[in-house]
Amino acid sequence: MESIVAEQLRNFEQKYLPDDLQPWAFHDTPDPLMRYLRDRRIKLGIDRVLSLTKLDPATCSVLVVCGGVGGEGTYLANRGFRNVTVSDFSENALEICRRRDSRLRTRVDNAEAVDLPDESYDIVLVQDGLHHLPRPVLGFTEMVRVCRHAAIVIEPHSGLVGRLLGREWEYEGDAVNYVFRWNHSLLEQSTRSYILRRPCYVKGIRFWDHNVALRKLAGLFGGGQIGLLVAKSAYGLLGAVPFLGNMMVGIVVKQPASQSPSR
Ligand SMILES: C[S@@+](CC[C@H](N)C(=O)[O-])C[C@H]1O[C@@H](n2cnc3c(N)ncnc32)[C@H](O)[C@@H]1O
Repeated sequence: MESIVAEQLRNFEQKYLPDDLQPWAFHDTPDPLMRYLRDRRIKLGIDRVLSLTKLDPATCSVLVVCGGVGGEGTYLANRGFRNVTVSDFSENALEICRRRDSRLRTRVDNAEAVDLPDESYDIVLVQDGLHHLPRPVLGFTEMVRVCRHAAIVIEPHSGLVGRLLGREWEYEGDAVNYVFRWNHSLLEQSTRSYILRRPCYVKGIRFWDHNVALRKLAGLFGGGQIGLLVAKSAYGLLGAVPFLGNMMVGIVVKQPASQSPSR
């Protein structure tokens, strides 16, 4: 099993070439269409967690796992989070991350075995990362272990539409991964198995997300503000049938351990 992670790491290191920051410029572009398409998923998760926990971005700590070159980290820093750490198993990705955005801290971690004590960060977040792991539920359990208050999981949803629109297998160079898809029940069971009877809020929010198609559609209208309006309207229409959505933002909020019923 370790050799799968090692093979994936070798291939990701080849993708992340620290000499060339240009491929990652989209993480920093102020283009309103790109910002809307890139940021709406993480915004949904962060808005929900802040409203449930009342945490203050200025004082709480966030760990992003499988954070790559730090796109999510930059979003969080732009929203006023002052203590953001991006982790990934790729040292090259983290070097690009530090060069892109000096506000972000970095740490090398295998997401399946995070080298941190329990409850080290207030919030732990992943976007498009767990489905790269050979043991995605183990990676999720590590997130729940390491978070003090909340975990946010932005990953493909396991429904029919997701499977029709998405791929079963993904390739990174010579390495392949199965695209593991989540739903509310899987999220709930994986959480409960680990935190047992400690009270917590668990919610798998299903929604539509197909940025490639939406960018093309917006492009037909010349991009810009009109394109943005078109993209927002299209996602607004699809939002009328969220139960068919192809993505999930999973939220876990732990209540204080002192409120737990006896085991
Ligand atoms: C599709 S990229 C997503 C990056 C980032 N979250 C984003 O959306 O821009 C998946 C990331 O997971 C990282 N990754 C894959 N397997 C990992 C593992 N076992 N431990 C830590 N990071 C891993 C890769 O290096 C890569 O940066």
